[in-house]
Amino acid sequence: MDMYRTPDTLVIHPSILYFGTPVVLITTRNVDGSTNITPMSSAWALADRVVIGLSGGGQGLANLLREGECVLNLAGEDMHEAVERLAPTSGRNPLPAWKREHGYRHEADKFALAGLHAQPSLTVAAPRIAECPLQLEAVLVQSTFRSLEAWRDDADGFSILELEVLHVHAHADIVVPATQHIDPVRYAPLFYLFRHYVGRGAALGKTFKAQV
Ligand SMILES: Cc1cc2nc3c(=O)[nH]c(=O)nc-3n(C[C@H](O)[C@H](O)[C@H](O)COP(=O)(O)O)c2cc1C
Repeated sequence: MDMYRTPDTLVIHPSILYFGTPVVLITTRNVDGSTNITPMSSAWALADRVVIGLSGGGQGLANLLREGECVLNLAGEDMHEAVERLAPTSGRNPLPAWKREHGYRHEADKFALAGLHAQPSLTVAAPRIAECPLQLEAVLVQSTFRSLEAWRDDADGFSILELEVLHVHAHADIVVPATQHIDPVRYAPLFYLFRHYVGRGAALGKTFKAQV
């Protein structure tokens, strides 16, 4: 006899739906040639594309729409303090009113603030972040914009952007020697889970399509 007991469930109304995605630090070039860093986590990959979601009113979004390119720097789990130093800031000046009201401040030099280091990219004007174990140079393929006046945190709406990845840079110590594969045991990304930072935990197994 099947002894499975259906779990109790509740219908809830959470203020956010950040169910756990990797933290990405997007580097983009500002109008004056300096670099902005945008911490974000609404991102997923399929083939050579990465789809991201960015709130309106951000400096990174404006830079990405203007320049059509960026670097997606995947943060490691040892980088959560650096990410959190960037969290209450924006490269935009002046800030949108809703961001000021939520405690954000303008920050022009996010590399210095976070203690991170820039490394030149191959084709994208913005540099990579040397500390990030994976760095994806990408160009913008298409974007959509949605205005959501009723959504508390998104007074400027948001954009969904499709990016094509041109170059993948990986720290040598997370690449399986003499292959093109990331070592899933050594790569330890930082995740953003309902506004908390969490690490990866132990590897549990692999799919039938895994090549290493
Ligand atoms: C861990 C983390 C994840 C975030 N995820 C997103 C996201 O997916 N999309 C977004 O628009 N903002 C996200 N944010 C908020 C932006 O970082 C914030 O709006 C910031 O001010 C943008 O900087 P910028 O204006 O210089 O681009 C996230 C922040 C943190 C700390």
